[in-house]
Amino acid sequence: MTTAACRPDSRGMDNLAEFIRGLPKAELHLHIEGSLEPEQMFEFARRNRVSLPFASVEAVREAYAFSNLQDFLDIYYQGAGVLRTEQDFHDLAMAYFRRVAADGARHVELFFDPQTHTDRGLPFSVAAGGLLSGMAEAEQTLGVTSKLILCFLRHLPEEAAFATLKAAEPYLDRIVAVGLDSSEVGHPPSKFARVFKAARERGLKLVAHAGEEGPPAYVWEALDVLQVDRIDHGNRALEDPALVKRLTAEGMTLTVCPLSNLKLCVVDDLRAHPLKHMLALGLRATVNSDDPAYFGGYLAKNWFATAVALGLTREELATLARNSFTGSFLTPTETQAHLAAIDAYVVTES
Ligand code: ADE
Ligand code: ZN
Repeated sequence: MTTAACRPDSRGMDNLAEFIRGLPKAELHLHIEGSLEPEQMFEFARRNRVSLPFASVEAVREAYAFSNLQDFLDIYYQGAGVLRTEQDFHDLAMAYFRRVAADGARHVELFFDPQTHTDRGLPFSVAAGGLLSGMAEAEQTLGVTSKLILCFLRHLPEEAAFATLKAAEPYLDRIVAVGLDSSEVGHPPSKFARVFKAARERGLKLVAHAGEEGPPAYVWEALDVLQVDRIDHGNRALEDPALVKRLTAEGMTLTVCPLSNLKLCVVDDLRAHPLKHMLALGLRATVNSDDPAYFGGYLAKNWFATAVALGLTREELATLARNSFTGSFLTPTETQAHLAAIDAYVVTES
């Protein structure tokens, strides 16, 4: 409980929001298809002559009441059906980058789900080409750098992931990593051991969603079987002290997504979110938005809502910002430059 004397007043809130916005930070867990706003869904549906099962933007928003991950995924895959052309993917990316640049992000590592699009008959190049051109424009016009991560859908067989890796061949010099997303429970990381090994042999970095709804055993598998460089979510790792010890000892980054966790009922109240505890345990946690159009907020809102709910200190916020760069796939020189910018910012703001 915060007492009245300790509760930040509205000026304190403004200062906190301003401090967060100005803090140099990276977003490491963002599904670009999850940035599709209902207004854009209607716009793309109109220009591509796709019919939607919703009468209005409000009706779409009303449908965003989820009890778990699968509830969300069903509507998220349906929404992605309006994306048909390279221009759509370019526009989707640019709309996201404008928002995240306003939130003070300097760098983004974004996921896309090629199978969601190739399974509808779009060539791999439509999503990949549109996103890469949006990323290039965002760097030029907004100064936000980015890297692209290809996610395999884990509810589909490993052979489908192999086919996707093959389709990605012409783009592998512009894709930094492969990831693993979609329905977690029942689809353990070990199901994708061989395709992750093939990706590693091609020089790609590796990440995987683990411990969002799945048990700590899935996080162990992501580490030991897939040999990932980062864990996406990782909340349920806290149930296993030996796993926490392993993650801290290795300095493994966890890309935590607080508003997503709230919306998908991973936590029932943001005040019960484990982020502050993760930091106290020495875990390299970061804050991210996951699917911001569906979960109620982009990067800065995730930071702000969590900071307020958990009473995060400026020192903890600065640690989260540092973690977002040390956990990124930027070069050590690039990372150092961002860390120096954080240090300079924290000194001037305190
Ligand atoms: N795809 C998009 N968002 C996801 C999430 N939070 N978990 C698993 N798969 C996803
Ligand atoms: Zn995710």
